[in-house]
Amino acid sequence: MASELGSTTEKLSQLGINGDWAASTPNLQKNLGILSSHQIALAKLLLDMGQTHLFEHWPEPGIDDEEKKSFFDQVSRLNASYPRGLGAYIQNARRLLADSKAGKNPFDGFTPSVPSGEVLKFGDDNFAKFEEAGVRESCKAAFVLVAGGLGERLGYNGIKVALPSESTTGTCFLQHYIESILALQEASCKLTEGQSQTEVPLAIMTSDDTHSRTLELLESNAYFGMKPSQVKLLKQEKVACLDDNDGRLAVDAKNKYRIQTKPHGHGDVHALLYSSGLLNVWHDAGLKWVLFFQDTNGLLFNAIPAALGVSSSKQYHVNSLAVPRKAKESIGGITKLTHADGRMMVINVEYNQLDPLLRATGYADGDANCETGYSPFPGNINQLILELDPYIKELKKTGGAIEEFVNPKYKDSSKTSFKSSTRLECMMQDYPKTLPPSARVGFTVMDKWLAYAPVKNNPEDAARVPKGNPNHSATSGEMAIYRAHSLILRKVGVQIDDPVLQVFNGQEVEVWSRIVWKPKWALTFADVKNKIGGSCSISQRSTMVLNGPNVFIEDLSLDGALIVNSVEDAEVKVGGPVQNKGWVLEQVDYKDASVPEEIRTRGFKINKIEQWELNYTKPGSVSFKP
Ligand code: UTP
Repeated sequence: MASELGSTTEKLSQLGINGDWAASTPNLQKNLGILSSHQIALAKLLLDMGQTHLFEHWPEPGIDDEEKKSFFDQVSRLNASYPRGLGAYIQNARRLLADSKAGKNPFDGFTPSVPSGEVLKFGDDNFAKFEEAGVRESCKAAFVLVAGGLGERLGYNGIKVALPSESTTGTCFLQHYIESILALQEASCKLTEGQSQTEVPLAIMTSDDTHSRTLELLESNAYFGMKPSQVKLLKQEKVACLDDNDGRLAVDAKNKYRIQTKPHGHGDVHALLYSSGLLNVWHDAGLKWVLFFQDTNGLLFNAIPAALGVSSSKQYHVNSLAVPRKAKESIGGITKLTHADGRMMVINVEYNQLDPLLRATGYADGDANCETGYSPFPGNINQLILELDPYIKELKKTGGAIEEFVNPKYKDSSKTSFKSSTRLECMMQDYPKTLPPSARVGFTVMDKWLAYAPVKNNPEDAARVPKGNPNHSATSGEMAIYRAHSLILRKVGVQIDDPVLQVFNGQEVEVWSRIVWKPKWALTFADVKNKIGGSCSISQRSTMVLNGPNVFIEDLSLDGALIVNSVEDAEVKVGGPVQNKGWVLEQVDYKDASVPEEIRTRGFKINKIEQWELNYTKPGSVSFKP
């Protein structure tokens, strides 16, 4: 015992800790002898930050010693993963909880106005010009997928990026994203005649909830054609939960030696990119753009080329992708906020904050539509394009820390206790909050049918969404892909039947012809125009899959299923009347556990009755007509 005390005294003096600092916490004091210097320093930090309750139940040394040490392993991780440490986290929590209790409005003193940006119309000359500029810039881009979210609303047992984006080809979101990036890389390289680097990097932010399954998905599918060295996984850590307004850390109900933790939000991506050194690697490789995107938007890459073209033409430091927004629709609005003290920022204002902010600042009608029939504030879809150089400069100042918020659910109006523990959160789109007024922050608005159909809700919640609002379910996400492809083909003159309305998992959706193409077939509208010729028609019950860079469709009249697969060097022309029994959508009950989850979650399965399938595996030129 004497030697333990002796060594503890030595450790304390090495740490410069004097006096009876642990005397008020006798259960900790008794255990100092089993702790390392690093653990003692962390214990002191916790006491200094008013966390004595964490040690109240600690038994004598010799009992649960391993658990006590693993408690400090966790504290050490929480301390290291938060910019400026756990002490700063608790201080920030106290400040934000006090503001929340006082009902302080974060936008106090700011006046909203509509920022400037680019509103694009799919398929016109302007759109084509931006698409071409975007493809040209793609070889100077790095992509960042934020995929650490738990997806509680979706309730899917796997990771969200492993879900099929559509069930005609069964391509999962991650595969679709990677194939889109690879197709962009190749198209960009061709356009710039290989002047730039040829590998577009992809960083994926994961969390403990998604990391190992994301890695496994990549490894078991040979990275979907990407070089493993092109992909970097960055794992975000969770943050400590808080039990009260004093920022007391919450003890895990199942393990008294663990602090409860929860995700900190996608805003972590900035600190992780910065601390990993990846941004400098990209900068040194001559890259210019960083594109952030989310886990389940199957339409996103329809918008990427043109939006990147806007970033480069307008020299935007920050470009937020947006869609037209109906007043009061539950997506945030991109808003310019100007403060009397000179501060100015262009940021996303959440839909529930926009209306009160507008009313409080002289807009008597609040969040209302303008003469266009839409809100003048574009709807944020949380896909950002940042220019790398100014991004690095900004992160050097902030370390990547993003302004946080707290959202406690109070027990009653006294706001003194919570229904359950809370934590600080941060959002990726709040990055522009710290930028100087000179920063060029803009937006690019795209048609919603073209750019945005995320999968966020489980079937039951999606079925409860009021009519006219988006379901954001696996069903609606898949149908949106067919609709977008049908509308794009209509734009080049293909006669596509109107959709029929059908109900799957209690959700009424438009069912268009199931038209799917791989990114290497077409990335831009110009690609589609070049590969469709003559007079074509596709009936509503039809399915068409185009997989191959040089597949040309001419004078096709399709009523059934047509699948075309071809290798790179083959040129395949397909046309004529194609008629067969086709592929049929069959209802599946969401609750039928005998059906795989990824199928029943969308409420239908595809019965592949009959198709005309062309597999062209040799180089050369060939024409097919039935
Ligand atoms: P969502 O808003 O879809 O949140 O995140 P979520 O946590 O995934 O799902 P719910 O709210 O529990 O239903 C938007 C994007 O941000 C990522 C998600 O993976 C998704 O791509 N995200 C979210 C993170 O990477 N980390 C987080 O801590 C939270």
